[in-house]
Amino acid sequence: MAPTASTRPRPLSAPDIAAAKGDGHPLVMVTAYDAPTARIVDESGADMILVGDSLAMVVLGYDDTLQVSTADMAHHVAAVARTKPRALIVGDLPWLSYHLSREETVRNAATLVRAGAGAVKLEGGRKRLDSVSAILDTEIPVMGHLGLTPQSVHAIGGFKVQGRELDAARAIVDDAVALAEAGCFAIVLECVPDGVARMVTDALDVPTIGIGAGRHCDGQVLVFHDLVGLEDRKVPKFVRRYADMLGMGLDAVGRFVADVRAGTFPSSEETYHMTDRMAEALDLYGEAPPVSVTPPA
Ligand code: KIV
Repeated sequence: MAPTASTRPRPLSAPDIAAAKGDGHPLVMVTAYDAPTARIVDESGADMILVGDSLAMVVLGYDDTLQVSTADMAHHVAAVARTKPRALIVGDLPWLSYHLSREETVRNAATLVRAGAGAVKLEGGRKRLDSVSAILDTEIPVMGHLGLTPQSVHAIGGFKVQGRELDAARAIVDDAVALAEAGCFAIVLECVPDGVARMVTDALDVPTIGIGAGRHCDGQVLVFHDLVGLEDRKVPKFVRRYADMLGMGLDAVGRFVADVRAGTFPSSEETYHMTDRMAEALDLYGEAPPVSVTPPA
């Protein structure tokens, strides 16, 4: 049996992901921003780790994704890359990193690759074809991102479902076709009606990766902190929570706080003890050192 993206030996490449279109194995991408989250995502068997600019909101506490720079993204791509995952690392190009000139676009994409990304992602359709072709010219694979593009939050008037009107739906399909023809190896579709995602998926010979785009995509992506329940923001309806890590964290740290305050942490077993001889030499306990200073064998 030919290897699929999910059975191919490590590490996966952008061409492996592109070749997965239609092989019957839905692709899985999850965000990660540091070594521990990357290890969880990779060991869970995801095909791609997206070091997304959602970093700004879920890790750095900003209200939108516009606040992170290429240097911020590279810092987190490098942390993920140090774990040497089998999954393809996709580095998100932040706002303003691919809007100003071809030269700056290429330099910023190269910064993410030098930090360890195997591909970069950028938002937008036909408007961004020049940036896509500049990056592809330097042999860096590009993933597209259409529908709700959070870097356009001010232009589109909020985080809203896109492609609800006929013209808007057609524009998304045309943008997707243009990105695929330009050479993007996969396209993220965020917050679009499932019928629009289906039209795009059927029109392309590269995979679509949906987030809030229904089941007719070639793969799915979720933000790590959303799927494990590691924050308290109100999540959109397309998020399925698989754990309550915020609740677990609150419970664990709350019990630590209580133990310290009750004097039950640390216990004797959790303590490095001085030998009786040394305690005596230091005259720590006077004439009669307590027996507990000698650790159990
Ligand atoms: O930054 C991000 O996490 C993303 C996903 C929502 C696709 O772009």
